[in-house]
Amino acid sequence: MTNDLYAVVGNPISHSKSPRIHSLFAQHAGEAVEYTAIQAPLDDFAGTVRNFFDHGGMGLNVTVPFKEQAWSLAQRRTPEAEKAGAANTLWIDSEGRLMADNTDGKGLVTDLIRNHRVDLRDKRILVLGAGGAVRGVLGPLIAAQPAAITLTNRTVSKARALVDLFRAGAGQTTLSAHGFEEVDSAFDVIINGTSASLQGDLPPISATVIGADTVVYDMMYSPTTTTFNQWALDLGATRVFDGLGMLVEQAAESFCIWRGVRPETAAVMDILRND
Ligand code: ATR
Repeated sequence: MTNDLYAVVGNPISHSKSPRIHSLFAQHAGEAVEYTAIQAPLDDFAGTVRNFFDHGGMGLNVTVPFKEQAWSLAQRRTPEAEKAGAANTLWIDSEGRLMADNTDGKGLVTDLIRNHRVDLRDKRILVLGAGGAVRGVLGPLIAAQPAAITLTNRTVSKARALVDLFRAGAGQTTLSAHGFEEVDSAFDVIINGTSASLQGDLPPISATVIGADTVVYDMMYSPTTTTFNQWALDLGATRVFDGLGMLVEQAAESFCIWRGVRPETAAVMDILRND
């Protein structure tokens, strides 16, 4: 019996943990899956996708810098992907159409609520950043029905544009946009969706946003404590999480779309932490 073929596409791709995560899922779930990494040329993502599916590939994950192109290429998108403006999961449906979903937001919310037991309903959430990563998670965050989501960004106009985009479907959740320096009250949950940590930078946010019970989540994952999480720990925060759980949970959502089986994630997170 040959294994069904899946892959993650990006550029660069050698750092990706997706092959490891999906191989562990397949092993634990007893699914006949082979999952590889493909580096697409920067100028031929579409050709790479076509070639993969023409040769019998069953599903693709998409990462930087191709998520927006994956969204454009798809013939149909889930409502989550539609709003996110980017896609991380592709497959071909029974009618031969290229389908797209974005599982990043579901991954974040599942990690917060299920793995870390963080209640989001009626809570005040501060989000730092207004790029593609934040746009990708706002829909599922709103669906968790917090009282308010305060978006802050270095370029405030981008935060305002996201508020405009998501306001119509926000229900009881109040959305607002500010510069980093404009917020100073304590929040229940703070999510860092900027890429500042990649350069070891810290968004210029007031220490007063951290209260006694504030939960801090850096969407970035790093084997050592991220710059942002270290800042929060230094200010006395005790519930501080990085994006490893989000990474594993978004992968589990993709696996579930493709295979119809939701894999166990806790054991996989433990293995990755100790890799
Ligand atoms: P991603 O897909 O990771 O979201 P992106 O769309 O380029 O990438 O967005 C990066 C985000 O990190 C943006 O919110 C960016 O702020 P600007 O919109 O003002 O550019 C933010 N960011 C990047 N470097 C930063 C830094 N050193 N300090 C604060 N914010 C930073």
